[in-house]
Amino acid sequence: MDSQYFRRVLGNFPTGVVAITSVNGSGAPVGMAVGSFTSVSLTPPLVAFLPDKASTTWPQVRDSGSFCVNILGSEQETVCRTMATGGGDKFADLGWRPSGSGSPVIDGVVGWIDCDIETVHEAGDHYIVIGRVRDMEVIDSALPLLFFRSGYGRFTPLSLSAWDNDLIQPMRMADLARGHMEDLAQRLSTECFATAPVDEDLVLIAAAGVIRSRKLVTRVGGRIPFMPPLGTIFAAYQPGPGQDRWLARSGNRSAEYRAQLAATLVTVKSRGYSVDLGHGWHTQMEELMASAGAQHGPADRTRADMVHSIADLPADFESPAMADPVSQPVGTINVPVFGRAGEAVMTLSLLGTRLSDESVIAAVKHLYEAAQRVETQLRRAGL
Ligand SMILES: Cc1cc2nc3c(=O)[nH]c(=O)nc-3n(C[C@H](O)[C@H](O)[C@H](O)COP(=O)(O)O)c2cc1C
Repeated sequence: MDSQYFRRVLGNFPTGVVAITSVNGSGAPVGMAVGSFTSVSLTPPLVAFLPDKASTTWPQVRDSGSFCVNILGSEQETVCRTMATGGGDKFADLGWRPSGSGSPVIDGVVGWIDCDIETVHEAGDHYIVIGRVRDMEVIDSALPLLFFRSGYGRFTPLSLSAWDNDLIQPMRMADLARGHMEDLAQRLSTECFATAPVDEDLVLIAAAGVIRSRKLVTRVGGRIPFMPPLGTIFAAYQPGPGQDRWLARSGNRSAEYRAQLAATLVTVKSRGYSVDLGHGWHTQMEELMASAGAQHGPADRTRADMVHSIADLPADFESPAMADPVSQPVGTINVPVFGRAGEAVMTLSLLGTRLSDESVIAAVKHLYEAAQRVETQLRRAGL
């Protein structure tokens, strides 16, 4: 087998890149760049990588009995090059802290997996090292570094053009929420959707249920400006400065409008949910979004139209004084899903007009239960 040909063909298969780190007999950190990392088993939790028999790092890792897998981020190409260069102190210019096993967790990595060496198999000029996972964590939702045809790069999904770097985290949350949303949509025969704030936009990150109307902004990846009076749940649970930025986006408004906004935030927080009566406004937004064409950030012209349209809404749009909140037909009903710091990281919503026999209060109860299940999943995923 011609080695160059072998490498060229296999170079067409892309891999992630990790730094396998450990501490040697003298207590010094050691590490190597590895593209042959893979998960192996869930029960028990096993992972593997394949060190070259010629590697000078591997025997030091083996002697320590444990190693840490550092998933490199797309900005860490230099770290990768350092780790791939034989000899010398690879940690001279790197910040790191010890994992439970003492192996280095390098600053800025996407995540790490701390392992004890379980078994080592021989395979040609390499070893297959199986590690038993003792601890692991995702630190950063940054994109991982990828290696393909001798070059470095990063992941771009085909499925959703709006899946920008800033949407990676919200989309991970959406993946965890989708099952619960589908259950709910099916049980109540309506549409359920999830929204998250991303910079100055509110982004529809997931939709479930039969989309029977085009009334709502039902396009996943679609964005609308995150400005008053929309997104009150996010604003209500944000600390002061975030709330001020949200308020500032409404521009120069009357003292009365501002006072109504402040009162709306108090109402939304005390109710724990927001509700809107629709006003045919969703139709207007849907048309604007359709004219924006792309699912990416709205074009300037469309954005300006949206800003105008949103500015026309009453300040209490998301907490209207309802004569009879139990039976009044509503547009959407929204509840918060909380992050670890107590901030609302996404909302789960039901299209109220499609709820057949359910009152707002009953719908809120269902939404709460789903939101709690989603929160449990977010915690488990370290989000
Ligand atoms: C993207 C990439 C992937 C690599 N994958 C592996 C691998 O799976 N196994 C391996 O032994 N070396 C791999 N290497 C090479 C090692 O990082 C490097 O040869 C080794 O660490 C050199 O130094 P050492 O003698 O200090 O171990 C890879 C290098 C790069 C750049």
